[in-house]
Amino acid sequence: MSEHVYNLLKQHHSVRKFKKEPILESHIKQLIEAGQSASTSSYLQAYSIIGINDPEVKEDLKEVSGQPYVVENGYLFVFVMDYYRHSIVNQESKHDMETSFESAEGLLVGTIDATLVAQNIAATAEDMGYGIVYLGSLRNDIERVREVLNLPEHTFPLFGMALGIPEDDEDGSPKPRLPFEHVFHQNQYDRDVESQREQLKAYDQTVSDYYSARTNGERSETWSNQIANFMSSKQRLDMLEQLNKSGFIRK
Ligand SMILES: Cc1cc2nc3c(=O)[nH]c(=O)nc-3n(C[C@H](O)[C@H](O)[C@H](O)COP(=O)(O)O)c2cc1C
Repeated sequence: MSEHVYNLLKQHHSVRKFKKEPILESHIKQLIEAGQSASTSSYLQAYSIIGINDPEVKEDLKEVSGQPYVVENGYLFVFVMDYYRHSIVNQESKHDMETSFESAEGLLVGTIDATLVAQNIAATAEDMGYGIVYLGSLRNDIERVREVLNLPEHTFPLFGMALGIPEDDEDGSPKPRLPFEHVFHQNQYDRDVESQREQLKAYDQTVSDYYSARTNGERSETWSNQIANFMSSKQRLDMLEQLNKSGFIRK
C-alpha cells in the first residue's frame, strides 16, 4: 500500500489564515469532480455545491458567520442538501416522491451525501497544497443564507468550506483525536462506563498538554471541559423550524 493517502489524512488540520491568492480555476473543476465521485445513497446525488468568488457574496456570508476567513480565503464553497432536481422529476412523475424527500430519512440521506462530497473535496484540496476549514457558522442565519444564495424550496445550506494557500505564519498542527480503543468497537459496542471514563481521562490529559504546548502554558483546557462549555450553550435551536420552512421533515 502506498501510504500517501493515509499520511495526507493524518496531517489534516483546519486552516484559518489564507494568502490572498485565489485558487486555480482548473483546481476548482478538479475538486468538484473529485467530490462528485463520492458514493451517494441510492444514486440520488442529493446535494449541490455553490462556489463563491464574489467579494460581496463573501461579505454577506461573513456577516452571518462572524468569521473573517469567510472573506479572506482563496475560494469558498457552500454545501447544500438538494432535492430541487428530485422535485422537478416529481412534477413529471406519476409517483409520489415528496414523502421520500420530506421525511427524516430524506434529511439523513441528503446530509450524508453532501458530507461525503465535501470530505472528498477537503482531502483533494489538501493534496493540492491548500488548507481548508469547514464552516458550520453559516447556519447562524439560514434564512439570510438562503436569500444571499437564492436557494429554492427543497434545498438547505448545511455548511461551508473556506480554502486557499495557508499563510506563511499559519501554525496549525494536527489536533489529537480520541483514543483508538475509545472510538473503535469490535463486533459490539463496549458500554463499560468505567473503561470509557478512564479513556476520557487519559485523552483529557493529552488535549490539555497539546493546548499547553501550543500556547506556552496559557491555555490548558481539557476536551471534556471544552465540549461541556460548548454543548451547554444552546445553539441554533431554530433548525427544525428552518428545515420545515425549506421543505424538510414535513412527513
Ligand atoms: C461540519 C463542520 C463545521 C465546522 N464549522 C466551523 C466553523 O464554523 N468555524 C471554524 O473555525 N471551524 C469549524 N469547523 C472546524 C472544527 O472546529 C475542526 O475541524 C475541529 O476543531 C478539529 O480540528 P482540526 O480540523 O484542526 O483537526 C467545522 C468542522 C466541521 C466538520
